[in-house]
Amino acid sequence: MSIITKTKPPSSETKDPGKPLVRDSFTSKLGVIFATLGSAVGLGNIWKFPSMTGANGGAAFIIIYLLCTLLVSVPVMITELMLGRTARANAITTYRNLSPKKSQPWWLVGVSGVVAAFLILAFYTVVAGWVFAYIGKAITGNVLSTNPEVTSQVFSRLVTSPWESLIWQWIVLIWISFVIILGVSKGIEGLTKRLMPALFVILLIVCVRSLTLPGAMEGVRFLFKPDFSRITPGVILMAMGLAFFKLSVGMGTMTAYGSYYRDDQDIPGSALRVMLADLSVSILAGLAIFPAVFAFGFKPDAGPSLLFITIPAVFASMPFGQFFLILFCILASIAATGAMLSLFEVPVSFLAERTKLNRTGATIVTFLALAAVGATAALSNSILADVKVAGKTFFDLYDFISSNLLMPIGGFFLAIFAGWVWKFPKIQEQLSNHGVLKNRGIIRIYYFIVRYVAPALILLVMLNGLGIVNW
Ligand code: PFF
Repeated sequence: MSIITKTKPPSSETKDPGKPLVRDSFTSKLGVIFATLGSAVGLGNIWKFPSMTGANGGAAFIIIYLLCTLLVSVPVMITELMLGRTARANAITTYRNLSPKKSQPWWLVGVSGVVAAFLILAFYTVVAGWVFAYIGKAITGNVLSTNPEVTSQVFSRLVTSPWESLIWQWIVLIWISFVIILGVSKGIEGLTKRLMPALFVILLIVCVRSLTLPGAMEGVRFLFKPDFSRITPGVILMAMGLAFFKLSVGMGTMTAYGSYYRDDQDIPGSALRVMLADLSVSILAGLAIFPAVFAFGFKPDAGPSLLFITIPAVFASMPFGQFFLILFCILASIAATGAMLSLFEVPVSFLAERTKLNRTGATIVTFLALAAVGATAALSNSILADVKVAGKTFFDLYDFISSNLLMPIGGFFLAIFAGWVWKFPKIQEQLSNHGVLKNRGIIRIYYFIVRYVAPALILLVMLNGLGIVNW
């Protein structure tokens, strides 16, 4: 059942005078789950999770990853959703309004989130642009060759052409801006509610195709064969970084989405459901990719080369390969879309609530700023390939700052805020929906983890990311 909920922010501080006091919100309980899942499911499921799992101990890696999600990302996700829903405001205003002492600069956590979301978008839109471009290349058959050298040339022509990279990034930005302007319920919820089920169906079709190929079992073994000897401290830290990125936590996206959550939404239950559904997509993606890769004798590469070079060659090798490649590219585009919508919402909600701009104006300003900054990432393989900051191209630099610095820093302070500043009574009140939900046991476990376990583990990831601790 869908109930239209338009909520008022609790404090006049969250709005500029003269702005309407009603905020758009998610409407149905299922819509909330799909929108949140849309943020979590992204390109990370398609190339990061399967290749990291395959290369780092299969099922052993999955167990470590699960522990990291349960001990760090899910608690941080619950925290963000809870604080966002309590404040009913953008990420920066949320932390400012909820801070017990106004002199304490908790709003900086929100600032870090806005900057991180913006930087992720700057490079994520480049990769999403390539994925969108590949739908066209799959339809025309341009990228369909069983020879990886040929598919590699097609990919390298795309990424080294400044105009092609830029134009595809702009197409992606226009598409996301259009949905964002439509609003939270009509745009984000309306679209993700339709796209997420479609993504599952497409994924299942490609999985069945891949698993029924002769020789597919070798790929399944590659993905799942547990090899605990591969689990080093470095791999554990990698799993934790992935768990952060996968569930989109530590950067204000879940705070912004939480601010649109319904009052009667079960936050811990929703977070757990999203985590399980996201994990299923990751595992299914692995089962769609590796059995086919092994069946045709290709190498299980990682990163962009798996997605843009190996996969087209793999699909070209199978009957009806063109059809399956088109499906696969659409699937990746859907995944990227949901993730980008949530990232876009972070700066847009801030600008729309804290400046004179309305939602459309805020989206246009974000679009223009991203077109400018994002261009430096889009040109990182062509004109700007030799421009390095701290030894990194702009593309790699934005990835490094957001994933290795801002995401863990944000997650760390979020956990500290919930566990040491907000404390149990307020948390109990919010997570039980003012006593309606009988979930005290889960809240107690959450509280213990967010107070002690999560901050300690995040600190380790951060120090490793900075090279201060090197295992
Ligand atoms: N979770 C997305 C993925 O796995 O691709 C990426 C992402 C989206 C990261 C939103 C961070 C974020 F805030």
